[in-house]
Amino acid sequence: NWDMGSFIASAIEEIRAKVGDKQVLCGLSGGVDSAVAAVLIHKAIGDQLVCVFVNNGLLRKGEAEMVLKLFRDNYKIRLQYADAQEAFLSALKGVTEPEAKRKIIGKVFVDTFYSEARKAGEISFLAQGTLYPDVIESKSPSGGPSATIKSHHNVGGLPDDLKWDLLEPLRELFKDEVRALGRELGLPEVLVTRHPFPGPGLGVRCVGEVTKERLDTLREVDAIFIDEIRKAGLYHDIWQALACLLPVKSVGVQGDERTYEEVCSLRAVTSEDAMTADWFRFPPDVLQRSASRICNEVAGVNRVLYDITSKPPGTIEWE
Ligand code: XMP
Repeated sequence: NWDMGSFIASAIEEIRAKVGDKQVLCGLSGGVDSAVAAVLIHKAIGDQLVCVFVNNGLLRKGEAEMVLKLFRDNYKIRLQYADAQEAFLSALKGVTEPEAKRKIIGKVFVDTFYSEARKAGEISFLAQGTLYPDVIESKSPSGGPSATIKSHHNVGGLPDDLKWDLLEPLRELFKDEVRALGRELGLPEVLVTRHPFPGPGLGVRCVGEVTKERLDTLREVDAIFIDEIRKAGLYHDIWQALACLLPVKSVGVQGDERTYEEVCSLRAVTSEDAMTADWFRFPPDVLQRSASRICNEVAGVNRVLYDITSKPPGTIEWE
């Protein structure tokens, strides 16, 4: 549409004027904001943009492949891929406390990101997908939730050898406008309309200890749940849907065998802004199909719960 077209034209001009012949670094998260920022900046300055994508091992099924294919193969953006799964897993070994997990994940992310940045050569700008609500919230005394969300990519505490200015081409936009911009830039609809996903990813959805095996199990559970939601045509009626593995095992029976396996909890909520949320009223057959597919198709899970807690008192995530 005309409005977006003119936004793009003026954003491109602004980016070019600000960046000149310098290099820009942009972290991709798999989410819509960083994706739109990267594609917009790439349109403006081409190969002066370098993207970094860190695979923390806490991503959803197929997510790393999707990011690589889209940005490297499709958009031909320079992309450094850091497979840091081992580093995250070993740092998280034995850790069960949610905030401790977040701190560790944040620290390993920053270390990985900076070491990638050093490989990228002379960088002058760090691009971020900061939106207007993030700008407002980060000015409030408490910082607000989005300030924390973006803190993974924050320049606060930059090491001495990395001197970056910020480039935030989306800072006047609301989420809906970013989605419209993403569409205009040709980003796939699945990415543009994706449910929110926390920075610490599946790390805070493996309730209890985070292991490679549990993460692999959870990726399968999550993929089935989302698939059933999409098939039922309900994905866009839901603010966020998620699965987590609980730190308990349960007894089950499969064939003639007694099993003693993991328990997963499914959650889907409606919300305006994630500050409050209501649990989503599924038609029972969607839950039924999800539960039976999960138990049949995912080794190591024998029980499925559906979470009917609103926020408050529950949070959207379990940790
Ligand atoms: P809660 O669980 O607090 O979540 O109701 C509200 C929204 O924020 C997301 N969330 C996070 N996002 N880093 C993030 O980037 C985090 O540590 C984090 N914790 C929660 C959550 O998925 C929901 O959309």
